Amino acid sequence: MKKASLILDRNYVVGPVDRRLFGSFIEHLGRAVYGGIYEPGHPEADEQGFRRDVLSLVKRLNVPVVRYPGGNFVSGFRWEDSVGPRENRPKRLDLAWMTTETNEVGIHEFADWAKKADTEIMYAVNLGTRGPDDARNVVEYLNHPSGSLYSDMRIKNGRRDPFGVKLFCLGNEMDGPWQMGAKTAEEYARTACEAAKLMKWVDPSIELVACGSSSSRMPTFGDWEYRVLSECYDHVDYVSLHRYYGNPDGNTEDFLASTMDLDEFIKTVVSICDAVKGKKHAKKRVNLSFDEWNVWYHSHKQDKELKKRDKWGRALPLLEDVYNFEDALLVGLMLITFLRNADRVKIACMAQLVNVIAPIMTRNGGGAWAQTIFYPMMHASALGRGESLTPRIECERRDTRHYTDVPMVDAAATVDENGGVTIFAVNRDLTEDACLSVDLRAFKSFTRMKQTTLHHDDVNAVNTELAPNTVAPTQHPEAPFTGEIRLGRASWNVIQLY
Ligand code: AHR
Repeated sequence: MKKASLILDRNYVVGPVDRRLFGSFIEHLGRAVYGGIYEPGHPEADEQGFRRDVLSLVKRLNVPVVRYPGGNFVSGFRWEDSVGPRENRPKRLDLAWMTTETNEVGIHEFADWAKKADTEIMYAVNLGTRGPDDARNVVEYLNHPSGSLYSDMRIKNGRRDPFGVKLFCLGNEMDGPWQMGAKTAEEYARTACEAAKLMKWVDPSIELVACGSSSSRMPTFGDWEYRVLSECYDHVDYVSLHRYYGNPDGNTEDFLASTMDLDEFIKTVVSICDAVKGKKHAKKRVNLSFDEWNVWYHSHKQDKELKKRDKWGRALPLLEDVYNFEDALLVGLMLITFLRNADRVKIACMAQLVNVIAPIMTRNGGGAWAQTIFYPMMHASALGRGESLTPRIECERRDTRHYTDVPMVDAAATVDENGGVTIFAVNRDLTEDACLSVDLRAFKSFTRMKQTTLHHDDVNAVNTELAPNTVAPTQHPEAPFTGEIRLGRASWNVIQLY
């Protein structure tokens, strides 16, 4: 068994963990809404058509915030289409996904669902085909008490109290050529700045996320963030990051090392935010909203065929990645990376929540089940509370195809308000267990531990409707804490010390 060590010191704190680090995302895309959260006529549907089985899985994930309604979809979306009597709502061609949007579920219905799911809404406004005027109108519709055109329209549509949405995205991936109304950095910066000003004039209590580049791989990356923030710095609170990883070549070691890239990405965006802060002599700090992240590649081929075959279809099974065990390990490693950067990453939304590259899958008219990636997300959301600690890890390091010096053991740790410590750790080694010795400096002594692990001998193992527990966590019996913890090969581990 390999040796590894972890030092945690009560005085070395990264920062407080914002609950919104465990957020999610629902886009009007594929079967996320129709056939996902909403399926009237399903045996599990409630009086509004929301699936109770899906809601109970969402509640197990304990999701603090859900980004809505897109994604690429939002760049052509007219929010007015989605309010008022259902029979009057138009069917529109969605040019983002080449499907038809029926608007059966709109702002009011989604807010009702969010309440049932115990979550808040992070609302994205359309800065693709629309601009500042519509952005301020939707804030008025959502948040203004009454006595104006849009607030009174909301009341007429059945909702007296404001929705009280506190967090807004200023468009989505606006540097992407695939985006409706894609923009240059200058065009976006001016539009976002003016939209932000107007939105905050309507409701000064809201927080705003400016679009960063749609991925660190974009040629625009870096320069885009710098230009956009230089223009909008005073008006926005966060800049967005999006990143998806995949393993199309079946190189698991390399795939599991992808969080080296993620960490670098975060640190680069932090530097850009702080460079603009310095240039502007600003006191305020702009933080990071990692509002799309996950593994995404399994469904690419199938989606191409589906889009060709059923152009303008409704609720097509798009982006339905079936996640395997190694994906769960990578998701665990991504969560570890967010926790270790909790001083600057304040919001993170796993993309997405149901059916579309999601931890929860459903069958129309059938069951709902947890994919492999559900579990690290559930654990981190439940136990990643309080303050994130600075971990000092010593272990074997290896090179993979794209990365050098990859630590075989990766970890993050939090201390909660009662002084309990939780360690989240992944053993990347596919063949050998590790013995992790933990040195807890300046902490009271811990005598007991609870360990939960996620492991499967086959990295390609998946959960299905008929075999939903193929990859599921094992909760080990509570045991004395000796200072050493065994991390099985290829495993996600959650260790609670008390
Ligand atoms: O989450 C799926 C898509 O990925 C989103 O619509 C878009 O923002 C990103 O490219």
